[in-house]
Amino acid sequence: MSRSEPEPWRIKMVEPIRMTTRAQRQKALMEAGLNPFMLKSEEVFIDLLTDSGTGAMSDRQWAGMFLGDESYAGSRSYYQLSQTVKDLFGFQYTIPVHQGRGAEQILFPFLVELAKEKGASEPVFLSNHHFDTTKAHVEIAGARAKNLICPSSLQTDVSDDWKGNFDLNELENEIKNNQKNIVAIVITITCNSVGGQPVSMENIRLAAKMARDAGIPVIIDAARFAENAYFIKQRESSFFNETISQIVKEIFNEADIFTMSAKKDGMVNIGGLCCFRYNESWFRQVQLRCVPMEGFVTYGGLAGRDMSAMAIGLREALDEDHLRSRIAQVEYLGHKLQQAGIPIQTPVGGHAVFVDARKIFPDIKPENFPAQVLCNALYLESGVRATEIGSLMMGRNPITGQQEPSLFELMRLTIPRRTYTDNHMSYVAKSLIDVIEKADTLKPLEFEYEPLILRQFTARFREIER
Ligand code: F0G
Repeated sequence: MSRSEPEPWRIKMVEPIRMTTRAQRQKALMEAGLNPFMLKSEEVFIDLLTDSGTGAMSDRQWAGMFLGDESYAGSRSYYQLSQTVKDLFGFQYTIPVHQGRGAEQILFPFLVELAKEKGASEPVFLSNHHFDTTKAHVEIAGARAKNLICPSSLQTDVSDDWKGNFDLNELENEIKNNQKNIVAIVITITCNSVGGQPVSMENIRLAAKMARDAGIPVIIDAARFAENAYFIKQRESSFFNETISQIVKEIFNEADIFTMSAKKDGMVNIGGLCCFRYNESWFRQVQLRCVPMEGFVTYGGLAGRDMSAMAIGLREALDEDHLRSRIAQVEYLGHKLQQAGIPIQTPVGGHAVFVDARKIFPDIKPENFPAQVLCNALYLESGVRATEIGSLMMGRNPITGQQEPSLFELMRLTIPRRTYTDNHMSYVAKSLIDVIEKADTLKPLEFEYEPLILRQFTARFREIER
């Protein structure tokens, strides 16, 4: 199988990557405590840990870097960025931040206070699915994070165009029964946690309307907004003839606020946004929190050149040729795995292929981390680094200390934008197919060291008998 259309770019600069021997990888993985997060990047051949900040910038973005204005206050690059936000999203007020979680940390405590002033005693955020740092910042702000994802997303072998959708009945019930406690709804596009799956425009509109009618603020978590818009154009018949740019405007019309990690569709290595459509008072109050936490209001933890690169990257993200090629590459990898009978989340998502480790190792218990077993085996086989999205990431309930049940045990093969070729993807597929043939011989894991919080990043493991 090969792709019919070549990539809409040519390569102007290359970065060598080095293949290692199996013995070298064995040693590296042991030193890393059987945790790929702890590997040195030089020990990795193809890095599919994340698509966050790992993409290649264009020549225009690099040119923009040289024109960045490094003034502490009132940087020209800030005004370039805020004009871009007005043009693309129709939002009046822009706060730059160092990355997505920077937006979460300055915004959420303000919104929780607002909800408490209106009578919330047990504040809660509702989302199709909170990303893990988003959930962490909700909790740090003293609220709960509740996910209302549609049930089809849980069945990886059942194809559904809109696995990122809210379960609207659940949302309606929550609003009916618990309205005063709801701080905001967070629409995560695409929905990373269930496989980079899109949310339909219909679902966005209905969810936003329910919230609006109840006086609840609507936030878009916009990390992969352009990929979501592309899926809407492909799959929702009333948008077949609209441009990506029109679709993006329509999506953002539904929200009061958006937070964005610009390290994904924003096409930069670092940067983020916290933006308000029209509410100047909210903007001013969150700006005040930006100064001590992120930096002065016109740079928010970024260099001027980073803001210039982001302004250019956001426009490039809307280019349909780019999106078609990007999504086709993810599909290319996904289809190769499917052809070999490897269970993945279907249909293939926007930024990654999610391999269902529960199906591959039905006998390995969640607390022995089947998806982490697979990540380690893939690294040993090939030097490809992937990441676990399952029980390890889910962690323990802070009150009971018990392992939180995880919806999935997935290995995420996350594809950086404009970085690897289809040859790299073919190698990844072949390596994984070889690993799965040996699945019976792979050993479950247990903790040798378990950090108290965010354990997945620095934990160490040992193998146990099956
Ligand atoms: N929201 C979503 C949907 C994300 O996927 C991420 C990050 C964030 C917020 C936080 O943004 O990293 O810039 O602070 N996701 C990365 C990942 C880390 O690997 O999926 P950040």
